[in-house]
Amino acid sequence: MPDTAVAVQPLLQMRGITKRFPGCTALKRVDFSVEKGEVHALVGENGAGKSTLMKVLTGMPREEGEILLEGKSVAITDCREAQRLGISLVPQEMSLAPALSVAENVYMGRLPSRRLSCLVDFRALSENAKRLTAQLGFGYDVRAKLGDLSLANQQLVAIAKALTANPKIIVMDEPTSALTQREVERLFEVIRSLKAQGISVIYISHVLEEVFRIADRITVLRDGEHIGTVKTTESNKLEIIQMMVGRKLETLFPKVAADVGEPVLEVRNLSVKGRLHDVNLAVRRGEIVGIAGLLGSGRSELLRAIFGGDLKTSGEVFVDGRKVEVKCPADGIRHGISLVPEDRKEQGLHLAMNVRENICMVRSFRGKLGRFGFSNVAREETVSRRYVERLGIRLASLKQPVGSLSGGNQQKAVLGKWLTVQPKVLLLDEPTRGIDVGAKAAIHALMSELAGQGMGIVMASSELPEILGMSDRILVMSKGRLVGEVARAEATQERLMALMTGGGADDVAG
Ligand SMILES: Nc1ncnc2c1ncn2[C@@H]1O[C@H](COP(=O)(O)OP(=O)(O)OP(=O)(O)O)[C@@H](O)[C@H]1O
Ligand SMILES: [Mg+2]
Repeated sequence: MPDTAVAVQPLLQMRGITKRFPGCTALKRVDFSVEKGEVHALVGENGAGKSTLMKVLTGMPREEGEILLEGKSVAITDCREAQRLGISLVPQEMSLAPALSVAENVYMGRLPSRRLSCLVDFRALSENAKRLTAQLGFGYDVRAKLGDLSLANQQLVAIAKALTANPKIIVMDEPTSALTQREVERLFEVIRSLKAQGISVIYISHVLEEVFRIADRITVLRDGEHIGTVKTTESNKLEIIQMMVGRKLETLFPKVAADVGEPVLEVRNLSVKGRLHDVNLAVRRGEIVGIAGLLGSGRSELLRAIFGGDLKTSGEVFVDGRKVEVKCPADGIRHGISLVPEDRKEQGLHLAMNVRENICMVRSFRGKLGRFGFSNVAREETVSRRYVERLGIRLASLKQPVGSLSGGNQQKAVLGKWLTVQPKVLLLDEPTRGIDVGAKAAIHALMSELAGQGMGIVMASSELPEILGMSDRILVMSKGRLVGEVARAEATQERLMALMTGGGADDVAG
């Protein structure tokens, strides 16, 4: 090292990393370095190359470039080798086993065994897992089946798992996309304590508020190129957004007032055993109704019950004033109701099928129900291309498997799929989670436009600025009940929070 360098050797250096996929160069000679005990945020639009850079760090083959740890060049061939060298990745896409317990998931591949035997020491397993999950402020029984936990809690399990390897560097790829504010705070405490122990954290997020709170430095990628690295204290959100998009951004939350018409959706006394209690609501044409509530308040259950995904125990659903029977999603679709689910990977896409087939899936399903007769590839191509453009989905070809799109672009594809049927009622569960700032504005604009065309939209979101920005009216849920309604003009973050966290404290979940 030249003696002009005052700083000590960075813990990690990635130099000149190039990664190509068929039809796209995901990384173009990217340089990236991380100091010991630093929280380094990696940001950029959907498809910029963030996840790919981290996959290269944990063993994905690359075309060019070098990785140095504490100044020494290392060959990382797979994630085990990466882990041995002290690099742990919490991937963007969940990679846990839903059928196993929390404890087994945390220690998968590193199960403690009893002395002098190859049997798993379940006691030690559970003790260790309990300690780690307690550190994350995780309130569940570690013996519970992972698949029974909420997405947020599964995410915390994935982080606990990465910590068991005692990493020097931990990579978190969108760790907070399924977390509520309170859980984000807990995660931040964990990150601060890791930092205090000298552990470095690479933090990928689209939520710039979070990035500015937790990161020491920020690196921006755009179209696979390293645009810049700045100190958080010397930069601001606007500068980062401009580096990310390389152009001026449309205004956020472009809500335009639409003419509100007749009720298009009415729900009466809707209940789902143990989860949803006696919900009544009406949505009119052109209206966007926001559903606010803490995690577990019943937001997603409400949307699923309306759509026919959760079996309701009682209640009636009316579309355009006519009573409809929705017992399963097929019924929902037939009656003009679309649901864009929260867990898009689980419920939204067939990863091995191509983008065109995925986007046109519901549409051709409707066709099979007798509306259009048969599906037609050329027509499908036109339709899917329209939504790809509309939503700004970045891809090499409509024929590529949807699983090869970046995380955020997969989410846009799910949205596109449900929009193609032009429903009367659109139910959106966390529509912009994991979506970059530019695309988020595009989706909000699209929502406004669809409402303007007479669609009734119900949007559940944990992001209060999004609820406040986009809704004509806000319904607040707590413990499976509607506990309040606030008009757009009267809504503030404080007022919603008060309702969400106990305005309805008189009722008990049953
Ligand atoms: N297995 C693959 N096959 C083909 N292309 C791929 C594959 N994985 C990623 N890509 C492409 O590489 C580019 C970068 O993707 P990457 O997943 O790194 O983006 P990202 O910055 O993590 O985006 P997001 O915020 O949406 O998660 C994208 O254009 C993506 O389509
Ligand atoms: Mg990604």
